[in-house]
Amino acid sequence: MKLTYWSHSCFLIETRSHRLVVDPFLSGNPLAPVKATEVRCDFVLITHGHNDHVGDAVEIAKRCGATIVANYEVAMFCQSQGATVHPMHIGGSWTFPFGRVKLTIAHHGSAYQTADGFVNGGQPAGVLIMTEGKTVYHAGDTALFMDMQVIGQRHRPTVALLPIGDNFTMGIEDAVQAVEWLRPDVAVPMHYNTFDLIRADPQEFARQVRAKGYRAEVLAPGGTLTV
Ligand code: NI
Ligand code: MN
Repeated sequence: MKLTYWSHSCFLIETRSHRLVVDPFLSGNPLAPVKATEVRCDFVLITHGHNDHVGDAVEIAKRCGATIVANYEVAMFCQSQGATVHPMHIGGSWTFPFGRVKLTIAHHGSAYQTADGFVNGGQPAGVLIMTEGKTVYHAGDTALFMDMQVIGQRHRPTVALLPIGDNFTMGIEDAVQAVEWLRPDVAVPMHYNTFDLIRADPQEFARQVRAKGYRAEVLAPGGTLTV
């Protein structure tokens, strides 16, 4: 499985048979290495309703004929915009053609902002993607929470994608604690440096993770990791 970091919380995940994109915030993202119109994928996964995560999901899904996977409220909103969706909710899992997806808790908000006000985006989530004998845990936007120990014990993540930007989510110190609780094979930082409010040094995160005996990989926008 190959992961490509498209900056912020956006990753392309390529399995042998399918292309998945998580949280495709590309238009209006100063760090995005690709344009939304260049994306080809089969599924779009959205962790929560915030605009920097829903991003270009609807346009990409409609153009590619991809299915959006998100919590019920975000899925219904995307469906109202013309996208094909698969609604889920926290604790639930479903087997898709590429593998199994399970939504986990995340401590955050989820409202989607439109010109007319906010749309209720339900509860924010993290996403476990289980495919080809590997498990990717994309934490979404979240505070540190102790149930990450349970996620670590029960799902043994191969890769943990963790926000480090602070202010809206975990900062570096809490993200390092998250790695200790999740015990992934490799930790990858996300959700930093897109905006001034979330400035953080991913190399500092990597140093601290390695000092605890875990592997960390910092991906530049467009950078890849094969696991
Ligand atoms: Ni958010
Ligand atoms: Mn965010």
